[in-house]
Amino acid sequence: MFKQKYGTTALVAGASEGMGAAYAHALASRGMNLVLIARRKEELEATAADIATRYGVKVLPVVCDLAAPDATQQIIHVIGDTAIDFLVYNAALSFIGPYLSTGPSTHLDIAAVNVQTPLALLHYFGGKMVARRRGGIVMMASLAGFQGSGFLATYGASKAFDRVLAEGLWYEWKPFGVDVIACCAGATATPNYNNTHPRKGSFLEPKAQLPAQVVEECLQKIGTVPSFVSGTGNKLVSFLLSHVLPRKKTVKIMGDSMHKIYGSKWESN
Ligand SMILES: NC(=O)c1ccc[n+]([C@@H]2O[C@H](COP(=O)([O-])OP(=O)(O)OC[C@H]3O[C@@H](n4cnc5c(N)ncnc54)[C@H](OP(=O)(O)O)[C@@H]3O)[C@@H](O)[C@H]2O)c1
Repeated sequence: MFKQKYGTTALVAGASEGMGAAYAHALASRGMNLVLIARRKEELEATAADIATRYGVKVLPVVCDLAAPDATQQIIHVIGDTAIDFLVYNAALSFIGPYLSTGPSTHLDIAAVNVQTPLALLHYFGGKMVARRRGGIVMMASLAGFQGSGFLATYGASKAFDRVLAEGLWYEWKPFGVDVIACCAGATATPNYNNTHPRKGSFLEPKAQLPAQVVEECLQKIGTVPSFVSGTGNKLVSFLLSHVLPRKKTVKIMGDSMHKIYGSKWESN
């Protein structure tokens, strides 16, 4: 059904582990061949080989740093004229800490991975999907992008961009048979997230979801809505923060929560 609707080949940008690998498994289990992108060759090849064996689909690992200004050209160079029917932009760069505690290049790198490369990839592969009148695109966004998030300011802003971009393209491309969705996740137990060793933040904070839970909800929702918040706990919290509390209160809760979860790290440096 999924493959009949969208086509045979999916590209997952940021796919060697965590949420990206969960997308790769879920799409392969739906019979799609895959192009998987990440920087670490060994991890990427191991994930690709595991998926190919498990689901009997073709998997092409492509080592590429999505922060590179020519990342899209590098990918096109490797895959040639392989048609991409489904695209997941999952990779992201974040920096947790006071904005001024790192150099401007960190913030510009976040913009490259989370904003610039998605723009270029969506223009190229989305354009081809529109021309073929069929396709699906998932942009990974985050609850951190629903309001200013102190100590996560650039990442939060980039995730707001990703959500709003996907929603706009949902409207533009729907008439051409291309479904676009922003998946707004809350805390999810990926290696990346676990490596930050988060402490409990606000009492409002729901338990971290598993990557496969987020992915399944997303693949069920695509085609029905421009964006969604994953998980019941996250839906309740985001409703409260976005629609019930005043914006000033919401921004304060987010900043206080980030400080409580991670502040001891930068304050001890
Ligand atoms: N985890 C959470 O709690 C959470 C919450 C809300 C939203 N999200 C969103 O969900 C998505 C995935 O989250 P995650 O951070 O936990 O990651 P993940 O899916 O567990 O892993 C990130 C993947 O992207 C690859 N990657 C990272 N930077 C890359 C780059 N510059 N070029 C190529 N590949 C790159 C990594 O492989 P290599 O290291 O080998 O390159 C890895 O395979 C992100 O968009 C994030 O904003 C996550």
